[in-house]
Amino acid sequence: MSELLFVCYVDELTENKSKRFSGEDFDIALFNYKGGIFAVDNVCPHQHRAEIYQGEIKNGCVVCPAHGWKFDLRTGNKVGGNKGLNAHEVKISGGKIFVKPTVKKFAW
Ligand code: FES
Repeated sequence: MSELLFVCYVDELTENKSKRFSGEDFDIALFNYKGGIFAVDNVCPHQHRAEIYQGEIKNGCVVCPAHGWKFDLRTGNKVGGNKGLNAHEVKISGGKIFVKPTVKKFAW
């Protein structure tokens, strides 16, 4: 997967809101945080639960609702650990949000 895909209109993803965007070979969580749109994997590397999009945002990190692991929204890196989420390229154009899913192998 290497193309930008339309997700939704910017107006649909308001401040501190999130959205799940999934396809055949990707599952992504998008967040609007302080005016920026961020896209990371929706599947947590801890117990592989697809709940990241439901996580609370705290200090630039999303908190997995299952057990509280925290991931930096910008990089996907886990706070205080080496497992993380992939961060995906986001582009805003004409009031629309596009994401380029990056499919990587996970080291789980
Ligand atoms: S599944 Fe995310 S912290 Fe456990």
